[in-house]
Amino acid sequence: MELTANAKINLTLDILRKREDGYHDLQMVMQSVTLADQLTVAPAQGEEGTALSDLHFLPTGGKNLAQMAAAAFRAATGRGGEVDVSIRKRVPVCAGLAGGSADAAAVLRAMNGLAGTGLSLEELAQIGERVGSDVPFCVLGGTALAEGRGERLTPLAPLPACYITLCKPPFSISTPQLFSRVNVRKIVRRPDTAGVIAALEAGDLAGVARRMYNVFEDVLETRRLAEINEIKSVLIDCGALGASMSGSGPSVFGLFADRDRAQEACDCLLESYRDVFLCAPAGPNV
Ligand code: C5P
Repeated sequence: MELTANAKINLTLDILRKREDGYHDLQMVMQSVTLADQLTVAPAQGEEGTALSDLHFLPTGGKNLAQMAAAAFRAATGRGGEVDVSIRKRVPVCAGLAGGSADAAAVLRAMNGLAGTGLSLEELAQIGERVGSDVPFCVLGGTALAEGRGERLTPLAPLPACYITLCKPPFSISTPQLFSRVNVRKIVRRPDTAGVIAALEAGDLAGVARRMYNVFEDVLETRRLAEINEIKSVLIDCGALGASMSGSGPSVFGLFADRDRAQEACDCLLESYRDVFLCAPAGPNV
């Protein structure tokens, strides 16, 4: 079975409170994008399933999120066998783009097809919760408000047609470490989540772009923040309607109404960065 695993960006990311279980209650407007990994999922040749990709440093066995998703599917349904997963990796890893979660979500959809279980996407999303906080959104895709740990999803009006220039600077940020630096009571700047949702409903791209924000930007180390801000400046100077960091970073994206300007931003950023992509919003999975 061949599947496309779309990356996501956060149009907003807000942290509401720290929970007893160590996780945080979040409020995020999530958007799937056309930047994607390609997966092939087939019944395993050997006794145990494998997960092979074109990135040699990713785990190839049970520690790969794709295999963790297959195990979660078998545990939840009592159906489905071992699978070999082959991943053409295009989404940068440790980038705040949910690349690994997208692969896990694609494996859940594949297992559902291969095992003929006929589960709904909502049921698959519930299984995905056990694999990672971003997996449920990646199962559904499209545009959604994610709350709780990230698993409570409300579909939203789609992001109006636009172009998205995405840039991942060459450093990675540990998600748990970043969460540990957040003091919820000291968050000064927050995204206008309700405003973004209203702008989505009105089909107002500029209104969405203007209100985007990610509270993680406040707790970045000074030199990291400087680099994120520099990328944002390039995007805005090239005509982005707004720019923000995605997830726990370090990827930064800008929304453009105009393709030529989005391409110009790519060309500018490619002078300093390798991981630069021009993509577009992607709709929900069906
Ligand atoms: O669920 P996932 O494994 O993707 O989360 C990685 C880490 O991010 C968690 O171990 C936790 O430290 C942090 N996290 C959090 N609150 C969330 C999601 C993740 O504190 N809602």
